Amino acid sequence: MEKSWKTIIEPFKIKSVEPLGFTTRAEREQVLRQASWNLFGVPADKVLIDLLTDSGTSAMSAEQWAAMMRGDESYAGARSFFTFEKAVRDLTGYRYVMPVHQGRAAERILFSVAGGRGKTVIANSHFDTTRANVEASGASAVDLPVPEALDFAHPAPFKGDMDLRALEAKIRELGRENVPMIVMTLTNNSLGGQPVSMDNLRRVSEIARHHSIPLMLDVARFAENAWFIKRRESGYATRTAAEIAREMFSLADGCWMSAKKDAFVNIGGFLAVNSPEWNARAREFLILGEGFPTYGGLAGRDLEAMAQGLKEVLDEHYLEYRVRSVEYLGEGLRKAGVPIVEPPGGHAVYIDAKRLLPHIPPSGYPAQALACELYLTAGIRSVEIGSLMFGRRKNGVFEPARMELVRLAIPRRVYTQSHVDFLIEVLADVASRARSIKPLRLLEAAETLAHFTARLEPEAVA
Ligand code: F0G
Repeated sequence: MEKSWKTIIEPFKIKSVEPLGFTTRAEREQVLRQASWNLFGVPADKVLIDLLTDSGTSAMSAEQWAAMMRGDESYAGARSFFTFEKAVRDLTGYRYVMPVHQGRAAERILFSVAGGRGKTVIANSHFDTTRANVEASGASAVDLPVPEALDFAHPAPFKGDMDLRALEAKIRELGRENVPMIVMTLTNNSLGGQPVSMDNLRRVSEIARHHSIPLMLDVARFAENAWFIKRRESGYATRTAAEIAREMFSLADGCWMSAKKDAFVNIGGFLAVNSPEWNARAREFLILGEGFPTYGGLAGRDLEAMAQGLKEVLDEHYLEYRVRSVEYLGEGLRKAGVPIVEPPGGHAVYIDAKRLLPHIPPSGYPAQALACELYLTAGIRSVEIGSLMFGRRKNGVFEPARMELVRLAIPRRVYTQSHVDFLIEVLADVASRARSIKPLRLLEAAETLAHFTARLEPEAVA
C-alpha cells in the first residue's frame, strides 16, 4: 500500500518566474497617497504580494501555453471554438455555449435577456458585478444566504447555502412571474468563498422547478465547490471532483463562468444555457457587444487555454493542494489572533475587520483602512469587501454593508508556502497594533461599483 504523507505539496514545478515588487516604507506612503487610499490605484510593480484577486492572476500550465499556440484565429467557425464548446458541454451538459471576454459580460447579456424593471433576481448572494448588472437592467437583486453565513466567527461546512424557507416566502411575496431566475453562486464569493452543498443545491433546484423558475449557476469557482462537497458532504467521499461537478450542473438550467478563476486563464468566460429562447436572444446581445458567437470577445488562443484549464482544475492533486493551502493561511491567522471568517474559503481568507477594528464604525471604512495598513506595512495588496464595495450613499445618507471584510485572495499556482508564512507574520504584526489604525473618509465615489475608483483619505484625528 502507498504510504500517505502529512505534508501536502504544490503539485507542480516552476518553469517561469517573475520578480516581486520590493519597495521601501517611504515609497509605499507616497504610492498610497497618489492612489487616494484606493488599492486599485496602486501600480502592480509597487506590490510585494498581490492578493487583490484570484481572478485572471493564475499561472497557466505548460499545456495551456502549448494549446495557445494551436489557437485558430478565424473570425467564424474557428477550430478552437469547437474544442472549447466540447470542453464546456462535456463538463456542464448544457446545450448552447457562448464565449465571452469575462464573467460580467455574460451577466450583462443574461440580465439584458431575462432582467428588466419590476423583476427580482434571487441569489444565495450576488457578487458585486452580478448585482450591478441585475440593477443596470432595471431589476432588483435579493440575497438570501442561510443565517449562519453571516455569523463569521463560527464555522459551518456549507455557509454558501441558500435559506430555503426565505426563498419560498420571497417567491410567494413577489409572484413567480416576477422572478426571472434564481442564482446560486458557487462558491459564495461575497460572504467568504463558502461552498454550497449538493443537498441545498438539489432543494433549490426542486423549488425552482416547482415554480417553473430557471435556476442559473455562477460557476467562477465550481471546482473548489466540488472539492468541498467531496470532503464535507456525506455520500461524496468516493466520487471524483469531475463527477460531483457534473451533478451540480445537472441540477440547473444553465450557468455562466468567469473563467479567470477556476479555468486558470488570464481572460475569458462563457454563458451556457439549455433554453432555445434565451440562447437566441443572448446571441443577439453577444454579437452586439462581444463579437461573433464563435469567438465572443476572445482570441482563438484564449478559447484553447480555457478548454485546457477546465480539465486541469478537476485534477484532485491540484484541488487538495489548493484548498489545503488556503486553509493553512487561515490556521496561521487564527493562531496569530486575527479574526477571520470561519472556516477559510476556497480561494481566499477573509479577515473580519469589524472584530479586529471595533473602534472604527462602518462609515470610517474599517476594512479599507485595514487593507491600506497591510499595504503600508509590507506591500501586501488585498481587497475590501465591506461598506466601500456594498454600502450605499444616496442623497447624503450612508447605508453600511452587512459585513466589513478584507479578502486575501490567493492566485492559483502562483505563491508558495514561504509567501504564506510571510503573510502570517505581517498580519500578526498589524493585528497587534490594530487599535492605532485610523478611519478613512470618502472624498469621491461613482454611483455603481464605487470601490474601483473611489478616493479616500485618513481622517484627521483630533
Ligand atoms: N461572479 C463571481 C462569483 C465573481 O467572483 C466574479 C469576479 C464575477 C462573477 C465577475 O467575473 O471579473 O470575469 O467579470 N470576481 C473577481 C474577484 C473580480 O476579484 O472576486 P469577471
